[in-house]
Amino acid sequence: MNVSILGTGYVGLTTGACLAFLGHNVTCVDADHEKIAVLERGGVPFYEPHLAELLADAHPNLCFTSEYAEAIPPAQVIFIAVGTPPGKDGAPDLRYLEAAAHGIGKHLTGEFAVVVNKSTVPIGSGNWVGSLVRDKACEKAKGRFAVASNPEFLREGTALHDSLYPDRVVIGADEEQTAEVLYTLYRPILDQTFQAPPYLPRPEELGAVPLISTDLASAELIKYAANAFLALKISYINEVGQLSEKVGADIAQVAKGIGLDARIGTRFLQAGIGWGGSCFGKDTAALIATASEYGLEMPIVKAAREINRRQRDRVVEKLLSELKILKGRTIGLLGLAFKPHTDDLREAPALDIARKLIERGARVKAHDPVAMDRFRKESESNGRLAEVFCCETPEDVAREADALVLVTEWPQYRELDWEPLAQIMHTAIVLDGRHALDRTRLTRAGFRYVGIAC
Ligand code: UGA
Repeated sequence: MNVSILGTGYVGLTTGACLAFLGHNVTCVDADHEKIAVLERGGVPFYEPHLAELLADAHPNLCFTSEYAEAIPPAQVIFIAVGTPPGKDGAPDLRYLEAAAHGIGKHLTGEFAVVVNKSTVPIGSGNWVGSLVRDKACEKAKGRFAVASNPEFLREGTALHDSLYPDRVVIGADEEQTAEVLYTLYRPILDQTFQAPPYLPRPEELGAVPLISTDLASAELIKYAANAFLALKISYINEVGQLSEKVGADIAQVAKGIGLDARIGTRFLQAGIGWGGSCFGKDTAALIATASEYGLEMPIVKAAREINRRQRDRVVEKLLSELKILKGRTIGLLGLAFKPHTDDLREAPALDIARKLIERGARVKAHDPVAMDRFRKESESNGRLAEVFCCETPEDVAREADALVLVTEWPQYRELDWEPLAQIMHTAIVLDGRHALDRTRLTRAGFRYVGIAC
């Protein structure tokens, strides 16, 4: 099928690469000419494991442009995957979505096309996008398009795996004909009939992928409800972690013990500093904002946000309690990205923690295996974050530091040679913000090990 994808962020580019790999003709569109130039040269504008390889394999079926006039007329399916950053009062800023819908409307030719909302959009956006497209469409095209919702559940860092081998595909459409187009598009994924790339092997236990075919509003709500549930699952284990610390329990064992109940599940019960990233914060805020339009409070979702906010304060409190005075101390952060295997710094706990420590007079050094360049660029004009001292190696972070904080559980940090690090620190304290380090090994290496919930 001929597919156009508007927006080449994590969602748009991953979707484009996967669909092209499956044999569809895909045009990826972005207003950012520089990004398009990078993609045309075979580059990738952000760090995502295996994306460069998949783009290279899908190359014959892929093209890149900034021109809607080129991308929209031949497309049978048009994905909107533009950014919906947080706006005022928790509601997302929809200006890019609006521009995309207008751009589509202007260039529809009258051949039937399905416009798919892939960006995370507020409930009711399907209807809104439909009216925006119609406003700009010529008479011939006005009744010749339909809108669908196809929310994305990929996680950064495992985006390609999640897209090729999803737990489910959700399609929201108000007419059967619209849904049929998307079943055809996704058939190789639903039936798992494609040849898996060698660098992304198919999980052995995976059979056919379940399809949820529903109306527009339900599909839109599924996305928000899923992200909010995952966020509150993490906040729940972090709340239990606080109690666990008081009563002297081991939160990792508690999480395992409750998670092995199949009704609960072990995933997303990793206690620690809490969630960051561009999705959970934005989507929980948007869910609360939408609910308030209907006079609903969403107290559980609000509590999840509050607990998450407090986890970051707890890092500073713990350091204060260990070091007594933060003014003039040097704190080293291991990890800046909001999670491992990405260079994404949006809503990263490390940034918040660095800011709080600097405000209290501490000196902050930091290292990240892939996010350093992005951090240098983004922090240059970012208030006090510009004061963070960027280090080339974890050893440089440790040298003369009063404490290290593991903020992002990159695998290479677990494998560090801790003994020499303890020797070059001013005081050998490590705060394991992700429950990722081996307490016994660190203690043997000469560290005082401090956990966030133990
Ligand atoms: C999240 C969802 O998991 C995806 O399903 C969804 O598609 C995506 O948002 C989105 O809406 O685009 P993502 O934000 O990429 O994906 O990353 P996650 O793996 O969900 O991690 C989010 C944060 O939670 C990270 O900071 C991570 O460190 C933290 N986390 C995760 C925990 O603190 N504990 C856990 O047990 C799991």
